[in-house]
Amino acid sequence: MRSGTVFTQGLRQGLGDDPFWTVEAVRQVRYHVVSSNGLFEPGNSALLTGCPDAPMSAGDRRLIVIDQNVDALYGGKVRAYFTANGIDATVIPLRADESVKQWDAVSQVVDAMNDFGIDRRREPVLAVGGGVLTDIVGFAASLYRRGTPYIRIPTTLIGLVDAGVGVKTGVNYERGKNRLGTYAPATATFLDRSFLRSLSLRHISNGLAEILKMALIRSEDLFALLESRGVAVRADRLQGTTEELAGAADAIIAESIHLMLEELQPNLWESALERCVDYGHTFSPTLEMHALPELLHGEAVVIDMALTTALATLRGFVTENQADRVFHVMRRLGLPVWNEVLEDPTLLQEALRDTVRHRDGQQRLPLPIGIGRHRFVNDVTPAELSDATRLLRDRAPADPSLVPEQVGA
Ligand SMILES: NC(=O)c1ccc[n+]([C@@H]2O[C@H](COP(=O)([O-])OP(=O)(O)OC[C@H]3O[C@@H](n4cnc5c(N)ncnc54)[C@H](O)[C@@H]3O)[C@@H](O)[C@H]2O)c1
Repeated sequence: MRSGTVFTQGLRQGLGDDPFWTVEAVRQVRYHVVSSNGLFEPGNSALLTGCPDAPMSAGDRRLIVIDQNVDALYGGKVRAYFTANGIDATVIPLRADESVKQWDAVSQVVDAMNDFGIDRRREPVLAVGGGVLTDIVGFAASLYRRGTPYIRIPTTLIGLVDAGVGVKTGVNYERGKNRLGTYAPATATFLDRSFLRSLSLRHISNGLAEILKMALIRSEDLFALLESRGVAVRADRLQGTTEELAGAADAIIAESIHLMLEELQPNLWESALERCVDYGHTFSPTLEMHALPELLHGEAVVIDMALTTALATLRGFVTENQADRVFHVMRRLGLPVWNEVLEDPTLLQEALRDTVRHRDGQQRLPLPIGIGRHRFVNDVTPAELSDATRLLRDRAPADPSLVPEQVGA
């Protein structure tokens, strides 16, 4: 018998003589997150030899699906890199933003894999783009021939710290955020923060929202770093143009990824439903889809976090002073703290109901305890939500000097 596999044959107790079998198997999961700046610079060998499970060498073929906006900016460099290294690259640009994160995009990737005639044993698909692109390609790859390996190269901050490092893939279905999806880790993710130099500040803020999430529930130190260096690091698009900014950007990204992986690893398939990384994701899926395309993913997440910070304040888990610091940092990072969708109490209740369905009948709502810690609650009431909404509206008034446009577009 192979280790990790149990195969039992027996007779059901008390249910007659029909035989039955139980099959149990344990599947090992291993994936790599490799950091290397300037991935497509000539002479950078990270993509060729940086991952022990996905080496690439002259004479190999690769299918590369690239976000069409990223292609316009970096496509020449990407193609030149593969040519210089003797890799026969087929590059497929794909439109990839939230409004097209749907089944059609998946079937376009499947068509590309079919046309390429992929050898799923030796030719991982490369996905180069933001969280939308890597989610679409990861989903298509996980379905194609019951699972084709793929490699992620995220080009947005959300991709670097969140969408690129976990195991989930997916696309939206009707109004259901990521309603279709799989658990399918990429063989490797290569992180190159130099891509962020061309990203709009709004999308930098969008990624900072997910970093802030990790800080609020797991690390007061990370929060302090965002509080002291977040504005400068954002303006610098995490490029590290001075030694000090480079140190801060590296620390913020590395700490956030480390905390994220620490949370994900023991619960990769989310069998435990109390997940602190779900912080900011209780109300936001409904808010995001409702407000689409007005709110980006991270913006919806931060509005959820602002609301639940208010809720935690009402419960005495977070002091008013701590809440004010949190709201202030949100704004300073160019993030919205309020959106008019919060005015609709039925929408919030519907969002909570949908989340409860998703979390097996209980709220399992992570709430912050102070800054950097959390606990789960199951007893949030509609009245409490209304009170929290009111508190948020009062305590987080729009400060014209801090709205995203003024902090930088
Ligand atoms: N799988 C997961 O675990 C996970 C985790 C978090 C978020 N997500 C998903 O990620 C998505 C959000 O990802 P996102 O914020 O990266 O959005 P995105 O992929 O839509 O990218 C944002 C925009 O930036 C453009 N872009 C990408 N890279 C660029 C670059 N280097 N320079 C200039 N423009 C660039 C894109 O074309 C797009 O218009 C959501 O759909 C969310 O559900 C998934």
